[in-house]
Amino acid sequence: MARYSQNSISEVSRRNNLVDVVSSYVKLKRNGNSYIGLCPFHKEKTPSFHVSEDKQLYHCFGCGAGGNLFDFVMKMENLDFVDALKFLAQRAGVVLEEEKGSYRPNQDENDLKQRIYEMNLAAAKHFVRNLADKNAETVQRYIKKRALNHDTITKLGLGYAKNEWNDLCNFLSEQGYTEQEMVAGGLAVKNEKGHIYDKFRNRLMFPIINVRGSVIAFGGRALGDDPAKYMNSPETPVFHKGSHVYNLNIAKQYGQKEGLILVEGYMDVASLFQHGIPNAVAGLGTAFTPDQAVLLRRYGSRVYVCYDSDAPGQNAAMKAVDILTAAGNQVKVVQFSGSKDPDEYILKKGSESFRDCLNQAVGSVEFKILKLRSECDLTSVDGKIAFVTGVSHILSELDSQIEREAYVKRIAAETDISLEAIMAEINKWIYSKGRKEAQKEIFSEKNLHFTSPAAERASQVQTNATYKAERMLLNIIFFQRKAFELAREELSSELFCGEDNRKIYEAMMAYKIENPEADASGFLSNIDSSLKEEAAAILYQEYECDSIQAAKDMIKKLKGELMHSKIIQLSKEGKIEEVNVLVQKYTERRG
Ligand code: UTP
Ligand code: MN
Repeated sequence: MARYSQNSISEVSRRNNLVDVVSSYVKLKRNGNSYIGLCPFHKEKTPSFHVSEDKQLYHCFGCGAGGNLFDFVMKMENLDFVDALKFLAQRAGVVLEEEKGSYRPNQDENDLKQRIYEMNLAAAKHFVRNLADKNAETVQRYIKKRALNHDTITKLGLGYAKNEWNDLCNFLSEQGYTEQEMVAGGLAVKNEKGHIYDKFRNRLMFPIINVRGSVIAFGGRALGDDPAKYMNSPETPVFHKGSHVYNLNIAKQYGQKEGLILVEGYMDVASLFQHGIPNAVAGLGTAFTPDQAVLLRRYGSRVYVCYDSDAPGQNAAMKAVDILTAAGNQVKVVQFSGSKDPDEYILKKGSESFRDCLNQAVGSVEFKILKLRSECDLTSVDGKIAFVTGVSHILSELDSQIEREAYVKRIAAETDISLEAIMAEINKWIYSKGRKEAQKEIFSEKNLHFTSPAAERASQVQTNATYKAERMLLNIIFFQRKAFELAREELSSELFCGEDNRKIYEAMMAYKIENPEADASGFLSNIDSSLKEEAAAILYQEYECDSIQAAKDMIKKLKGELMHSKIIQLSKEGKIEEVNVLVQKYTERRG
C-alpha cells in the first residue's frame, strides 16, 4: 500500500475545511463557536451534532460519535484511511506525494523562502505583462465590466493569468526556477502523472503583498464561469492565510490616522481604493482569525468592519467583531443597505455616500442589538421576550454600569418592559457567568472524611466529579502550553482514576512531546481507534476559566485522591500503622 508523505496529509487537512466537508452531507447552522446539525450517524429530531471550525473536530453529544476530518469521511463514505485521504485530496485538488520522493523543507528552509519570494515577484510581473497585452481581450473586457481603471490596476499590481496550462510554468522555468520550487510556492500543481501545470488559469490576479513589500501569494478572480469564483494560493512556506490580510501594504500608511476598513473581498478593496479610500483590507477567503486581529491592531487605530449586507455577511461580521475586540481593537461596524457589498455600494452611490456610512458606523454593542432586533418580531410577545433576553445577555458583557444603564433605559422604553425586569435579567446572566468561573472551585481540595459510611456514598459522587475533572484537565493540558509543562513535571498517569482518561493522557503526552505544535485533529489521527471518540469528546469542550490555576487545583486534587484511596485500601487490610503514616503525610500536605 502506498504510504503518503506527512506533507501531503497535512496539505489535505489544510485544504479541506471540516465545516465545508460536513456541510455537503449535513445541514449545519452556526451557533457560537460551533456549527450544529442533525447527526448523520444516529437518528435524532433535535440537533446534537457539533462541528468546531477552529479545532477541526466534530462531536455528537447524542451518540458520542466524534473525530477529525478523516474520521468523518471514513465513517460517512465507509472508506479506509488511504481512500479517505485520496477522496479528500481530490476534493481539494491536492496531488498526493508518496513518502520517498516527498519534499523535505528542513534542508534549507530559508533559501527556499527566499527563492519563493523572488519567484512570486517574477510571477506578479509576468501577470502584469499579460494583462497589458492588447490582445488579452477576455481580461480587458472583464476589467471594463468591473469598472477598474488604469491607476487602480497599476497601483494594486493587478495582472492576468492566461487561459493556458503552462504559461507561467514555462516562463518561470526559463527564469531558472525548478518544478519543485513552483509547486512549493503554490504557483504550479503536479498531476498524477507527475507533470506540472499552472495553478491559476484565466483569472484576474491580485498579488498579496505583506507589510515588508514582498509578494507572498495571489488571489485570482475567475473570468469564465469557473465554479471556484476566487482561488487563493495554498499555504506555503511564506504564506499562512490566517496571518495576513489583503492590501495591508498600502492601507498601513493610513491606519493610524483614519483607521482600517475590514471588508470581505479583493474587489471591495479595489473598488474602495479607486474611489479614494485606500485604507481597506480584506481577509483571505477564510474566517477572520485572532492573528489577523492582532495584525490590524498593530497598524490601525481602529477597525471599521464593513462586511456584506446579507445574513452570512452579518453573521461573519459578528464573529469578526468579537475577535477584533478580544485583540484590543477599537471596533466600529459599518452598515449600508440596498447593495450586497461595499463594491456594489460605492459604484452605485459614490464615495461621499460611503463616507457617510463610515461616519455613522456603530459600536459593537449597538451593532449586536441592531442585529438582534432585525431578527426578532417585536410585535409579538415571544419576539419581545427573545429580544430583551438577548439584549440582556449582550449588556451583561459590558464593564461599565453607566453604559449598561443607558442602553437599558432605551430598551425599556422601546419594548415597554420595566427597567427593573431587564436589570434583573442582566444580573442573572452576570451571575451565571460568575458561577461558571466559580466552577473551578469545585476542583479545589475538599475535606475528605474517609471513615464514616456516608463517605462511601459521597465518594461515589466524588468519583463522578473526579472523572469530569480529569477530562477537563486533559483538555486544558492539550490546549495550554503552560498546563502541558505543568503536567509533564507533576502529573504521573497513575493519578488518573478513569482508565480511558489515563490512556488518553499517556497518548497525549507522548504525542505532544514529539509534536509540540500539535493540533487536535493531528492528535486524533494518531491515537488508538478505541480511544478516539472519547478523545474527541474531551477536546471538543471549551472551558472559560483561569486554566492554569484550574489545572494546578485539579492535579492537587488527584494527588489527594490517590492517597485517599490508598488509605482506604490499607485500612481495609487492617494495616493500621501504614495508615497512620499516610494520614500523617496527607495532613502535612494539606497543612
Ligand atoms: P464574495 O463572493 O463576496 O466576492 O467573496 P465578491 O467580492 O463579491 O466578488 P465579486 O464581486 O463577485 O468579484 C469574498 C471573498 O471571499 C473569498 C475571496 O477572498 C473573496 O474576495 N472567496 C470567495 C474565495 O476565497 N473563494 C470563492 O470561491 C469565493
Ligand atoms: Mn462583489
